[in-house]
Order: sequence, then structure tokens, then C-alpha cells
Amino acid sequence: MAIIIDGKALAAEIRAEIKTRVAGYTNRAGKKIGLAVVLVGENSASQVYVRNKIKACEEVGVKSYAFYLPSDVPQSELNGLIAELANDDKINGILVQLPLPEHLDSEQALKLIPTDKDVDGFSPENVGKLCMGKNCSVACTPYGVMKMLEKYGIETKGKKAVVVGRSDIVGKPMAMLLLNADATVTICHSKTKNLGSECVAADIIVAAVGKPKFITADMIKEGAVVIDVGMNRDESGKLCGDVDFETVKDKCSYITPVPGGVGPMTITMLLYNTLIAAERNLH
Ligand code: GUN
Repeated sequence: MAIIIDGKALAAEIRAEIKTRVAGYTNRAGKKIGLAVVLVGENSASQVYVRNKIKACEEVGVKSYAFYLPSDVPQSELNGLIAELANDDKINGILVQLPLPEHLDSEQALKLIPTDKDVDGFSPENVGKLCMGKNCSVACTPYGVMKMLEKYGIETKGKKAVVVGRSDIVGKPMAMLLLNADATVTICHSKTKNLGSECVAADIIVAAVGKPKFITADMIKEGAVVIDVGMNRDESGKLCGDVDFETVKDKCSYITPVPGGVGPMTITMLLYNTLIAAERNLH
């Protein structure tokens, strides 16, 4: 039976540190750290994520400014709001919850977020810096995964890491972080041939596919480290990851559960990125 990586406990530990530093900032700056959260439309998963992000801000003493725009909002109005937030001194970080409704161009919107307020690490400049191994704001979910590996003393250097999924939010930045940490990285996706044989070669496997229980025990090498980024509902409506936890846990060395694994780390790293964005401008 694998060691279960406790994302909830690690998130609580890091959030306690963040809370102390946020209080320090508030004292020195004489104002609160501000995070703007923009949600467009009624996507129910996004509504839950945004609610949790706002709650997490409150818990560590960051002031959140929520903007709820209707699903048919014109691009010009969304752009206008972001441009306004970009120039607002109360706002240290800007987050536009993705995905945006079909008619909106997310690239156009994200480009308007100044690099130093890009707490999601989605701006082209931050993505470029990540690829170049430079200091930058890093996408929260993959950043959280790296913190988990670090906490549990899991070596990445020279290890074969397989990332399943190539999204801009998780797969691609995850692969870059692992590469920057000296792993040998393979990115798999829906067109990959022989996915099973790619996966079974992995010392570290990160599943970010969005399909319930997609990664099964036969795809896992004995003793591998299994990180599950999935957040799905199974046939009975129960929350589950991309990994078939029950069978995989007996074959691997470490595994993240769903819920209680990667999920709590994502918001924690958002708080961390917001803190760093604020501290950067204080000195
Ligand atoms: N949608 C899914 N994950 C994320 C995230 O980390 N940030 C934003 N802004 N949108 C998301």
C-alpha cells in the first residue's frame, strides 16, 4: 500500500505561513493585499472554484474583489474591466477564471493582465519565463504538485516523468516544472499511441486528463509516484480523480487522493503567488 500524499495537511501548513506573511505585509504597507477574481457566466464548477478562492483569501487576510459578469458580456467590457484592475493600486493580483464562454477570446483578456499581477502564471511572459527556467509566477496546480513532491522528499532528478494531458493550465506548465527539476519528461495526450506503454515506463506520473478513473493499475510501474490532478464524478456521482485509486494504490509508492490531494494545493499556491506579487512591490 502506497504512502498517501496528504494535500490537505500540506496546504494547511503552507497557508499558516502565508497568513503570517500576509499580516506582516499588511502592517508594513498599511493596507491589505488585494486579489481581483473575475468570473464570467454560470459554469457551475467555476462557481465552486471561485467561491473557494474567495473563502481562502479571507482565511489568510487577503482582501478579495469579486466581479461576476453575465455569460453574454462583450469582449470589450471584459477587457475594460481587466484594464481598470491593471491600473488599480488596491489590486495586487488579477485572476480570470477559465474557461471563458465560447464567444470570448481568453488570450486577448489574459494579455491585459500585467505580468506582475498575473497570479495564475498564464500570461505569455510568465509562460515564456517558465520555459526558460527563470523566476516567474507559476500556474497554481502544477506549482502545488511540485510542492508536494518536495515535501515528501520525492526525487525528480534523472527520473522519468510522464504527464498525461497537455492543457495550458496544467499539462504544459507541469511538464516544464518537471523538466526544470531535471526529470526526463514525456507529455502524453489524446492522440498518443500506446499510452499504456508510455505510462508504465514512468517513475512519476501526473494524470491531468479529466476522465474518471482513466489511469488503471496495468498502466503503472511497480513503485511509481502517482499524482492525480483529476476532479471528476464517477457513475454514482461521487467525486473521483483521473486515477483508479483503489487498484493503483497497491502498486505505487506514493499517491495523491481525490479529494484531499492536489485540489487544496491549487488554491494555496494562488494565495502564495498573490502574496509574492504584493511583497515584490513593497520593497
Ligand atoms: N480553471 C481551472 N483551473 C484554473 C486555475 O488555476 N486558474 C484559473 N484562472 N482558471 C482555472
